[in-house]
Amino acid sequence: MKISILASTFLLYLASLPLANSLAVMSVDLGSEWMKIGIVSPGVPMEIALNKESKRKTPAVISLRDNNRLFGEDAQSVGVRFPKQAYGYLLDLLGKKVDHPLVKLYQKRFPYYEIVADPDRGTVLFKHDEETFYSPEELIAQFLKKAKEFAENGAHQPIKECVLTVPGFFNQVERRALLQAADLAGLKVLQLINDYTAVALNYGIFRSKTFNETSQYVMFYDMGASSTTATLVSYQTVKTKERGYVETHPQATVLGVGYDRTLGGLEIQVRLQEYLAKKFNDMKKTKNDVFKNPRAMAKLFKEAGRLKNVLSANAEHAAQVEGLLDEQDFKLAVTREEMEGLVKDLFERVGKPVEQALKTAHLTMDVVSQVILVGAGTRMPKVQEYLQKAVDRELSKNINTDEAAALGAVYKAADLSTGFKVAKFITKDAVIFPIQVTFERNTEDGLKVVKRTLFGLMNPYPQKKIITFNKHVDDFSFSVNYAELEYLPADEIVNVGSTNLSEYRLKGVAEALKKNSGDNVETKGIKAHFTMDDSGLLNLVNVDLVIEKTVVPSVEEEGTLSKLGSTFSKLFGGEEEKPVHEKPEEEPAPEDNQTDKERTGKPAADKKPPLNETGGKNATDKETPKDTKPKVVTIKEPIQTSETVLSLGVLNQKQFEESTKKIEKLDKIEYEINRRATALNNLESFVIDIQNKLYEEEYTRAGTEAEIDKIKAMCSEISDWLYDEGSQADADTYEKKLDELHDLTNELFSRVWEHKERPEALNALHTMLNHSQHFLKSAKNLTKATNPEKDVFTEVEINTLEKLINDTTDWRDNSVKEQNQVKPNEPIKLTVKMLMDKMAALDREVKYLINKIKMWRPKKVEKPAEDKSGSGDKNTTENEENVAEEETVAEEETIEAPTVEEAVEADQAPTEKQQEDDHNEL
Ligand SMILES: *[C@@H]1O[C@H](CO)[C@@H](O)[C@H](O)[C@H]1NC(C)=O
Ligand SMILES: *[C@@H]1O[C@H](CO)[C@@H](O)[C@H](O)[C@H]1NC(C)=O
Ligand SMILES: *[C@@H]1O[C@H](CO)[C@@H](O)[C@H](O)[C@H]1NC(C)=O
Ligand SMILES: *[C@@H]1O[C@H](CO)[C@@H](O)[C@H](O)[C@H]1NC(C)=O
Ligand SMILES: *[C@@H]1O[C@H](CO)[C@@H](O)[C@H](O)[C@H]1NC(C)=O
Ligand SMILES: *[C@@H]1O[C@H](CO)[C@@H](O)[C@H](O)[C@H]1NC(C)=O
Ligand SMILES: *[C@@H]1O[C@H](CO)[C@@H](O)[C@H](O)[C@H]1NC(C)=O
Repeated sequence: MKISILASTFLLYLASLPLANSLAVMSVDLGSEWMKIGIVSPGVPMEIALNKESKRKTPAVISLRDNNRLFGEDAQSVGVRFPKQAYGYLLDLLGKKVDHPLVKLYQKRFPYYEIVADPDRGTVLFKHDEETFYSPEELIAQFLKKAKEFAENGAHQPIKECVLTVPGFFNQVERRALLQAADLAGLKVLQLINDYTAVALNYGIFRSKTFNETSQYVMFYDMGASSTTATLVSYQTVKTKERGYVETHPQATVLGVGYDRTLGGLEIQVRLQEYLAKKFNDMKKTKNDVFKNPRAMAKLFKEAGRLKNVLSANAEHAAQVEGLLDEQDFKLAVTREEMEGLVKDLFERVGKPVEQALKTAHLTMDVVSQVILVGAGTRMPKVQEYLQKAVDRELSKNINTDEAAALGAVYKAADLSTGFKVAKFITKDAVIFPIQVTFERNTEDGLKVVKRTLFGLMNPYPQKKIITFNKHVDDFSFSVNYAELEYLPADEIVNVGSTNLSEYRLKGVAEALKKNSGDNVETKGIKAHFTMDDSGLLNLVNVDLVIEKTVVPSVEEEGTLSKLGSTFSKLFGGEEEKPVHEKPEEEPAPEDNQTDKERTGKPAADKKPPLNETGGKNATDKETPKDTKPKVVTIKEPIQTSETVLSLGVLNQKQFEESTKKIEKLDKIEYEINRRATALNNLESFVIDIQNKLYEEEYTRAGTEAEIDKIKAMCSEISDWLYDEGSQADADTYEKKLDELHDLTNELFSRVWEHKERPEALNALHTMLNHSQHFLKSAKNLTKATNPEKDVFTEVEINTLEKLINDTTDWRDNSVKEQNQVKPNEPIKLTVKMLMDKMAALDREVKYLINKIKMWRPKKVEKPAEDKSGSGDKNTTENEENVAEEETVAEEETIEAPTVEEAVEADQAPTEKQQEDDHNEL
């Protein structure tokens, strides 16, 4: 109901106008417990892709048992019986070493897995059996591949591009690990989107008409399986001028974020599981400790999950597991109060993310117009009670947010792909782990470590930043790291992991300076250009030495003797090879737009081809040779930079290839299993189908006794075989048997078919002969002899048709007679194919003559206007109807969220209120 209204509303927004070659795109909202998939395909509004069981979400569980890989509910079933062979809650294991607190927590919750450290990276590996290990990337890649399969089934076409959701608190390493998993799955990730941003986007697109320039503030409170997030988002309309004119677009801006990485439904479920286990032990039904039995614990885990959900709605429920341990059943009544008693401390944590979100946004609750609940965890009455206390207002529970992240993400995917035109909705995310640049500088007091904030807390992104080093005259290095995390709770600081990200070494600084020395030269420093892209990834784009050169036109110095050309080429350092990277978009903020400063290029609008060398300087200067006013030109000298990754790296090339192979092998096994199942099914159904048919009159009539006996024998033979040894055969064998059966039955089947189809074909021929006869009659009146005014046809033509009609009629009569003389179970004399051929011949002939009528023109031109086919007369002025209409496929505008650039002066006092400035620039 609600969903369908939304879906139809959506049609308005996602005009879903497929542009040329548009391909479907998808989103994957991979949580720790569920996977949801959104798709947009040409002409279809965005929707949720269904899984194998036609459900809208799939448990994020993968099982690998005896090389048989299963997903979702199937995998969960395997997990209950063979806990070690089914993996779930994997997301939080990405990009972490085995000693990370979250990995330790995982190991504590699921003690039956053997987790070892990757020998190269120290990251998590599941020891599956003696020879096999799986990394979280590999397992998650297989989810994503499966998601792709579901999406392709839903869209009925191949899909390659996607947007993936990612928890907002994922750091650089975790984000890169997820991207690598997608890479292993063969997906092209258009963007990673923070889950809360996707939810906020989805909320916004259905309400964009209600936004105006005044901000509206909405808080999203998302308690999922393993974590909880509160996000404060503002909605307003903003004016952009990207296409050269002012447009107004709705925008969602993330202003504040608070989170708790371990607060969620899973922790409650684990506590319930432990409680049930303890109670079972207390019952002393067996001597064995239930805690030591993985299978029993897996059963209790599942039951605890069920219990938790039921107790959200009911005050009391009985937990029940048959044959839990040593064939002992377990049954225990649990009240909601009892459950709540187990997790009292968790409720105390419910309000914390809200406080943190408000604090980081520098806002208070009274500006917030709505608090929207997201995630299954928020269904618990006690959670709502505590949350309500924290936000001090009614909660909006009536909005279906279960699929909001998947839908928001697929909207983004449609926006980013070239194939769709969607109503623009800008999203602005915010940095929650500030990033700083650290380097050393020589001072009078010796070496001093300097730190500069690059991306401050809640800096909006995507954004570009430039940091300028003014004092360095030689090679140096700087590092980039997380900093200013003190605003986070202590355990969350630990969860962020290593704060060191990368070290960058610059080479050739002195040479670059030397090359550009002189009285007319002013060094503007070494500028390092960073971006925080839409996916929340930090990149160093390039590093340049920036020099301003004052150039006085040469008239005075050289007199009029020398030609301008050579002078200028020297002046501009034309002798050296200077590959200047043309990167117009990096041009710093608009304040630089000053009088005579040279600019290497204006943002995109300027469509001039990239110029060589120091870009276009010569043009301006040469054209004003008489002008003796000094000019300032800017030269950018690229500085060679090498990066050393200090945080956890991604899989290297070799590991990546090995992982790819490992997954391909499993894909192949799965494919073979499916192929075998299909082949078996095809064979079985064909045997049953024939066995039934052989008793139908149609078949008994068309087959000889011997023939039918032979088929019956083979069917029962195969049927017996299938119940016996054949039940274990491989796909090839099934396919071969099916082929043999086809060979044996082909003749009979085709005879049946012929007998069945012949009457209809004869009818068709009959009708056609009638029409032809009719046509012939009229045609005879259009010959020279009969109709001198309109002599369309020649005698020969008339005769040919008449003969054809006569012959066909004769042939038909004879053939029918002949066919009637043979028994139904004898080879066919008159086939449907023969009848079709005769019809085709007649058809050809008549069509030819009809065409001749159309083309026919009286010998004398009477009224050219009547001419419809436009062959003859040229006098009808410009009759150009046939000119192909020019296809006007709108060039899809790349919708880029406006980026803000900001220069951070590294060697000067840090500008105060940097953060406020950033916000102001928005
Ligand atoms: C913006 O919308 C809000 C709520 O819909 C309304 O109260 C306010 O008056 C509007 N402001 C303007 C400037 O239109
Ligand atoms: C940049 O220069 C253009 C053209 O001279 C001018 O119209 C514009 O106002 C300038 N912008 C700024 C920020 O100075
Ligand atoms: C630019 O440089 C390229 C390669 O160095 C050269 O082939 C090309 O002719 C140059 N173009 C101009 C306009 O100088
Ligand atoms: C310099 O000027 C010449 C002549 O106008 C032109 O062909 C060439 O492309 C220019 N080079 C640059 C780098 O602008
Ligand atoms: C044949 O054509 C003539 C002239 O158009 C017409 O008068 C006559 O009725 C036609 N005869 C038949 C049998 O159609
Ligand atoms: C076609 O058959 C008719 C009647 O049987 C006959 O009068 C006519 O001559 C035949 N035409 C040709 C071309 O064989
Ligand atoms: C085309 O026809 C018009 C009117 O019938 C006539 O005036 C004109 O001369 C003709 N032009 C040619 C090129 O025949």
